[in-house]
Amino acid sequence: MERLVGGAGPLVLGSVGLWVMYYLMQRLRLKNRLQDSVVVITGASSGLGKECAHVFHAAGARLILCGRNQTRLQELAQELGEPTDGNRQTYTPRTVTFDLSNTETVAAAGEEILKCYGHVDVLINNAGISYRGSIIDTHVSVQRDVMETNFFGPVALTQAILPSMVQRRSGHVVAISSVQGRIAIPYRSAYAASKHATQAYFDCLRAEVERFGLQVTVISPGYIRTNLSFNAVTGDGSQYGVMDKTTATGRDPVEVAHSVLRAVNQRQKDVLLAGPLPTVAVYIRTLWPALFFKLMASRARKEQRLKEE
Ligand SMILES: NC(=O)c1ccc[n+]([C@@H]2O[C@H](COP(=O)([O-])OP(=O)(O)OC[C@H]3O[C@@H](n4cnc5c(N)ncnc54)[C@H](OP(=O)(O)O)[C@@H]3O)[C@@H](O)[C@H]2O)c1
Ligand SMILES: *[C@@H]1O[C@H](CO)[C@@H](O)[C@H](O)[C@H]1NC(C)=O
Ligand SMILES: *[C@@H]1O[C@H](CO)[C@@H](O)[C@H](O)[C@H]1NC(C)=O
Repeated sequence: MERLVGGAGPLVLGSVGLWVMYYLMQRLRLKNRLQDSVVVITGASSGLGKECAHVFHAAGARLILCGRNQTRLQELAQELGEPTDGNRQTYTPRTVTFDLSNTETVAAAGEEILKCYGHVDVLINNAGISYRGSIIDTHVSVQRDVMETNFFGPVALTQAILPSMVQRRSGHVVAISSVQGRIAIPYRSAYAASKHATQAYFDCLRAEVERFGLQVTVISPGYIRTNLSFNAVTGDGSQYGVMDKTTATGRDPVEVAHSVLRAVNQRQKDVLLAGPLPTVAVYIRTLWPALFFKLMASRARKEQRLKEE
């Protein structure tokens, strides 16, 4: 027995040593993956996009910040450009201003983005708009507008950047979807539809570009404490202008931004970032749809009652 252990000892120790070395090297490699990399963030002027900008900037990325509001983007770029005492090299972000809902201008914006550094390593499709309203009272044009911003905009931008990624055999496309890309909640039709479309499109993309060595990540968060509900549109196209309680008590956007960074570093393919209840709901939708539909109908009745009170 003793002889056996004595014989195996060095072998075991050696294997453990090798494994620890491999693990540490892997961690180091993952840690440094974003240093100097070119990262595009849409919707960087507020909420999750802004926090992603902070986190990726601190990781040493060369950022290109996008949004409609040039003032806010410039303020953020300036803030991030100020020297810090960290030992990592950081870069002053560039900004490219454009409206995602106007797909004709998105291709031109894609060119402008590519001109900044000649290539893009990570494209984070984060910008989006939410919606509140009943289908009966909602103009088709509003359904279309939400789809333009949340779906066709990211599609047009991704396809403007993609050929360069394919040519370089390197690149990572991220889509910030939502739990509502997995389950449809009543009075959120336009938003849920746009996020379901997002999930489907980027799932197809992932399979199609794997042979070029490209990565695709879809991230589906639950409620995050941002201005999303405040900025949401209603059935007649006007601004909702209410900070919903669910959003106000949602996750800290800083925390979610760190999860986005981790997903990119670890090249995760699909991430559901929600609490236990929405996660269970996603499974019920798949495994027991009849129950899911009952629950949603009762939720719709409850919401209608509250509105009438
Ligand atoms: N907050 C949540 O509870 C939650 C939950 C799940 C998923 N998400 C997703 O997270 C992402 C970020 O949202 P957020 O919560 O950070 O909301 P937010 O604070 O309202 O930020 C939305 C961002 O999108 C940009 N944007 C909106 N419409 C645009 C357009 N037509 N063209 C270009 N940019 C546009 C806005 O920039 P400008 O105003 O400068 O254009 C803004 O920076 C969205 O995709 C959202 O669906 C949010
Ligand atoms: C939400 O909007 C208000 C007013 O425009 C702004 O002061 C605040 O910083 C925004 N919050 C976030 C998290 O972006
Ligand atoms: C852009 O952001 C600035 C600063 O938050 C704000 O004062 C201005 O009204 C915004 N412009 C538009 C067009 O929303």
